This record gives sequence, structure tokens and C-alpha cells, in this order.
Amino acid sequence: MGWFIHHVNIEAHDVQESVVFYRDVLGLSQGKWNYPDGAELGLGADKLAVFGDYNRGIHIVHPDADFQQRHGLAHNPTVGGHFAINVLDAEVVKQRLEASGYLVSDAGTYAMAGVRQLYVWDPFYNLVEINEIVDPVGGPRPADGEAHAKRIEREGWHLHHINIEAHGVATASDFYASLIGLTAGEWQAPLDCPISDITDNKEALALFGNDDNRGLHVVRPQPDFAKRNNLDHNPTIGGHFAIQVVDLGAVAKRVEDAGLLFSDAGCYAMAGLRQLYVYDPSMNLVEINGSI
Ligand SMILES: [Fe+2]
Ligand SMILES: [Fe+2]
Repeated sequence: MGWFIHHVNIEAHDVQESVVFYRDVLGLSQGKWNYPDGAELGLGADKLAVFGDYNRGIHIVHPDADFQQRHGLAHNPTVGGHFAINVLDAEVVKQRLEASGYLVSDAGTYAMAGVRQLYVWDPFYNLVEINEIVDPVGGPRPADGEAHAKRIEREGWHLHHINIEAHGVATASDFYASLIGLTAGEWQAPLDCPISDITDNKEALALFGNDDNRGLHVVRPQPDFAKRNNLDHNPTIGGHFAIQVVDLGAVAKRVEDAGLLFSDAGCYAMAGLRQLYVYDPSMNLVEINGSI
């Protein structure tokens, strides 16, 4: 099947403060939310922002306790964040999930123009949205067989990967492979990789997507990871998302000029990429990477 990671949704206590961070520090331009005709989510501009076109990319949302009740959902996608996988046939995925006993919220086309949305918890209670573009107004669909089809946003950035925490990588991997239908990729580590004990260990790390490490990273939490790698952030705990930018040096300078604590890991985990970690204003861990 064809698929791509459509967006990451992050919770923000002050959406405008987050907008300033993603716009002025990371250098991304804010997109415009495209509602289906007549739709109303009850989330004003102070509650919802998007960076990316066709509602793709990064969704910044203020938690809304009433959201699931208002929309008749079993899951509340505004609380605690989630990520969304765009597939070619959401109905088939829904039927596989329900046949396996998973609770699925089928929201239909309610929030994004031309996109049908489902929600499900994975075996470790990461909230996953499965969506399908059902009308061209929702943007281009993935080509059949294309794993994490690259969607380049304005300024040339793209959503590189989503990293989720799973205490049982094999269990989570089985969910994403057999029920969601994702295809595994081969991890490409740099030469003399300092974390080869993880990148070569299928019980610690799994990759779904491309052979260039783009896609979904499923990782077992490693409490000593930051210390072992001289980082101020631990990207194996609690998940994170990664964007690839055209000029990482310029972003790094703005992060530093803003006085933010960041970890410059250099090229340590993925071949050909320098990686930098920083918290956004609501303590969502963001990885920014760039080619070297
Ligand atoms: Fe979403
Ligand atoms: Fe990462």
C-alpha cells in the first residue's frame, strides 16, 4: 500500500507562543486550516494552528476537554498529541483493527477538507490517526507502494519521522505492520555509529518507511540514552517528531540566539544527517535535522 505521515499533532498551552517558536525560530510559515464545507470544530485561531499545506505537517492544538463529547468520539485527539498516517484505504484498516478488537473512532470527514479520519490507540496507548484523502481538495494521495511519500512544504522542509515510545517494540511493530499495513525499512546508521547497540537491535528500534530512515521510528525507552550520548534531551522517552530543513545551520543559530537549551547530536544515529533536539514552548520535543 502507499502511505505517508500526514501530520503530527502537538498539545500547546499557549498556541500563539508556539506559533512564534515554529515561525520565528524554526523558520516555518504558518498554513491556513482548510475545513470541510460547513464544518465547525469550535477551535478558534487561539486554539489551533497549522504549519504545512493541505492541513499536513504540524498541528498545534490547545487541549479541549469537551472535544470528544462534542464530536461523538471515543478518543480525544486534542489531549496529549497524536500523529496521523495517511493510507489509501482507511476502511480496510478500520475493519482490520476492529476485527482484532481495537476501539476505533470513525470521525468521517469532520475536521479537514477532503480527508476522512479515524483514531485508535496502539498497543502502548500512543494515539494514532489513520486518514485517507477522499477528495482532491485534501491534497495528493500517496502512490501505491510508496512508503512515507515525501511531502515538501514551503521553505523546503518536510516531516522526516515520528518517534514513538513502545515498551515492546515487537508488539508495536506487529500492530503497525499487520493492522495498519506499513512496510518496514532498513536502518541506515553512520559509520562508527555510537548507538549501534540500538540501531542494530530489533528489540530496541524498528523503522517503518524508507531506507533513508524517514517514516515511523518505534523505540524502547532507554533511561541512560542522553547521558551516554552527551545530550541534554532524551529522544527515546515520550516520543518526538523530526523535521528536515534545508539550512540546519541557520536554524541552529536562531535557536541559540533565542537562548534555548538544545542538544546538537551531530551525525550520530542516521547516515548523512546532523540532528538537533530542542523543546518547543509546551515541552514537546522537536528534532530538527539536515543533510551533511
Ligand atoms: Fe490529527
Ligand atoms: Fe528522531
